[in-house]
Amino acid sequence: ATGNVSDGKQLYVACQACHGAKGEGIKAMNAPSLVNQSPWYLKRQMLAFKEGRRGTHPKDVYGQQMVAIATTIADEAAVDALVAYIDSLPNRAPEATVAGNIKKGEDYYSMVCGSCHGPNAEGNKLLDSPALAGVDDWYLVRQFELFRKGIRGADDKYGRQMVMMAPALPTDEDVRNVVSYIQTLAE
Ligand code: HEC
Ligand code: HEC
Repeated sequence: ATGNVSDGKQLYVACQACHGAKGEGIKAMNAPSLVNQSPWYLKRQMLAFKEGRRGTHPKDVYGQQMVAIATTIADEAAVDALVAYIDSLPNRAPEATVAGNIKKGEDYYSMVCGSCHGPNAEGNKLLDSPALAGVDDWYLVRQFELFRKGIRGADDKYGRQMVMMAPALPTDEDVRNVVSYIQTLAE
C-alpha cells in the first residue's frame, strides 16, 4: 500500500458506521471485515465499485450500498490512502459463524480452490485471486452465492473467473463445508 495513511484515516470516517472503527466488519450491517484482506485486492474492489464493474446488478443490494459510497471517493489517490490506512490497522481473526464438514471442505478446497487462492487461502496476486483466510465466513458464503447466480462478476474479467468456477461446488452444503475449512486457516 503506497497511499498516505493520515489522509486515509480521515477518509475512513465515512466507512466506520458499516465496517467498524477498526475495519473489523459489522455483520448486522452486512459489511465485511477489511483488515485481513490484501491491499491490492481492496484497491481493485474499490475501483470496481466506483467504475461500474461490481454492484451494478439490480439484485446486488449490498454491492449497491458500496457503489453509493465508492462514487463519493474523489480519485485513485484517495483510494490508495484508504487502503494504506486499512492496511495499518491490526489484523483480527473473524468469529466462526458457518458450520460445515471441515474434512470434506478441505478435500474440495485442495481440489478446486487452492490452485488460485493458494494452499492456505492466503491469496495469489499473480493469479488475481484474493485471500480467503481471515475473511468473514458469512461474507464468503454470500459472495460465492452471488457469483453462482451471476449477480457478481458478470461485468468484470476477474469476477468472471469465479462465475465460471462456481458450479464446482454444486450444493449450499458444499459451500458451507469449504468455507468452514477456510475459517480454520485464519490467523
Ligand atoms: C452503508 C454501509 C457501508 C459503508 C458506509 C461502506 N461500506 Fe464497504 N461494504 C458495505 C457492504 C454491505 C459490503 C459488502 C458488499 C457485498 O456483499 O458485495 C461492502 C464491501 C466493501 C469492500 C469489498 C470487500 C471484499 O472483500 O470484497 C470494500 C473494499 C469496502 N467495502 C470498502 C469500504 C470503504 C473503504 C468504505 C469507506 C470509504 C466503505 N466500504 C464504506 C457497506 C458499506
Ligand atoms: C481460476 C482461479 C480461481 C479458482 C479455481 C477459484 N477462484 Fe475464487 N476468485 C478468483 C478470482 C480472480 C477472484 C476475484 C474476483 C474479483 O476480483 O471480483 C476470486 C474471488 C473469490 C471470492 C470473493 C472474495 C472476496 O473477498 O470478495 C470468493 C468467496 C471465492 N473466490 C471463493 C472461491 C472458492 C470457494 C473456490 C473453490 C470452489 C474458488 N474461489 C476457486 C479466482 C479463482
